[in-house]
Amino acid sequence: MKLWGGRFTKGTDKSVDDFNSSIRFDCRMYKQDIRGSIAHARMLGEQGIITKNESSSICNALEEILSDIENGMVEFENDAEDIHMNVERLLISRIGDVGKKLHTGRSRNDQVALDTRMYIKQEIIEIKSMLVGLEETLLSLAEQNLDTIMPGYTHLQRAQPVTFAHHMMAYFQMLKRDLERLDDCFGRTDFMPLGSGALAGTTYPLDRKMVAEELGFAQITQNSMDSVSDRDYVVELCSCISILMMHLSRLSEEIILWSSHEFNFITLDDAYSTGSSIMPQKKNPDVAELVRGKTGRTIGNLVTLLSMMKSLPLAYNKDMQEDKEAVFDSIDTVKMCLPVFTKMLATIKINKDIMYTAAGLGFTNATDAADYLVKKGVPFRTAHEITGKLVLHCIKKGISIENLPLTELQQFSVHFENDLYNSIRLESCVNYRNILGGPAKDAVTGSIKSGKAFIDSLK
Ligand code: ARG
Repeated sequence: MKLWGGRFTKGTDKSVDDFNSSIRFDCRMYKQDIRGSIAHARMLGEQGIITKNESSSICNALEEILSDIENGMVEFENDAEDIHMNVERLLISRIGDVGKKLHTGRSRNDQVALDTRMYIKQEIIEIKSMLVGLEETLLSLAEQNLDTIMPGYTHLQRAQPVTFAHHMMAYFQMLKRDLERLDDCFGRTDFMPLGSGALAGTTYPLDRKMVAEELGFAQITQNSMDSVSDRDYVVELCSCISILMMHLSRLSEEIILWSSHEFNFITLDDAYSTGSSIMPQKKNPDVAELVRGKTGRTIGNLVTLLSMMKSLPLAYNKDMQEDKEAVFDSIDTVKMCLPVFTKMLATIKINKDIMYTAAGLGFTNATDAADYLVKKGVPFRTAHEITGKLVLHCIKKGISIENLPLTELQQFSVHFENDLYNSIRLESCVNYRNILGGPAKDAVTGSIKSGKAFIDSLK
């Protein structure tokens, strides 16, 4: 018999039970569901809505159910639909009529909102701590590579020299914003919805504040219809995860490129790469490729949720049950990616000489040659044109700017003098860019320092 079976004249068709049921995926919220029910029951007792005795026998039985589930002693039932009704059915089977009082002043609509918010809050904390581990890896790679000069790219063409430290710190900043985004999402999820009932609140004198405090919520939702009908916190978490995964995917793409024979900027540790079943020589960056690939599914989950929500009238609609598989998958995916990605990154070998040689090719110091002329009084546009012509001349001769003799350089501008050679050394190109946010050793040292302070502030 269904817990809602009173107005029905016959049982549900088995196909509908199977179709309607969410227990196979929402069972993972059993702890939140039971903790929520205990808080609700305790409050019902305090408010005199049920007796203190009834309240404590409900709470005790729920504690037992929780530990039985944890010890694998409970089998959930498909025809009980979801985790909420499975737990309630178990409770009633154990303590009879008193158990039937638990759902007083509550609906599954505010209950599922509560469980999901509690679940998401917990997961945000875990994702954040994994992300902190990755940030620390980036900081230590940066610290070890303050002098590791590499080409910086735009359009995937060599552009200007930077350092590997600066490149890593770019990702540090992106992931720092991801941490902040997750925090923001936590703050907006941290509202307790019980007391909203099915949609129109309740006539019982519930103490919403007491429930919120017991369950560790910072705030209480302010509109009963909103409480049961929005899932923006679910969408927001999926969005945060998609953005974070998009960042990991970009770094993955670079790792894949850098570890190719063509670049050979880094070598992946054998423990974090894989071989080919046919080509004996192969060493493949599968971890980075899978992270890049899995980013797609997190974006898919975000689109699933937005499309699922976009036309729903207020208040609760069963469509919203579809939110769980999407958000659970995004959570599982990012939690699977972060630790292995971090370890892969922490173990890369950096081929500094190859990076340095690559930085010296492709006229990455041309801007600095133009800037040299500007500092001698030549207007920037003119200096740009002179240097462009100089680069063309060098391309034809197959030589780089610093290898031309001064007399030849002076055919392009009389302002070129001996000190040019120092100004366009790769080390100068990098370290003269000592502007806040720039690649110079001093500037990057400063950004590592504030990065560390940020990470420490989270602990
Ligand atoms: N399993 C449902 C969900 O995830 C719980 C809420 C059901 N409410 C209802 N009125 N049928 O959305």
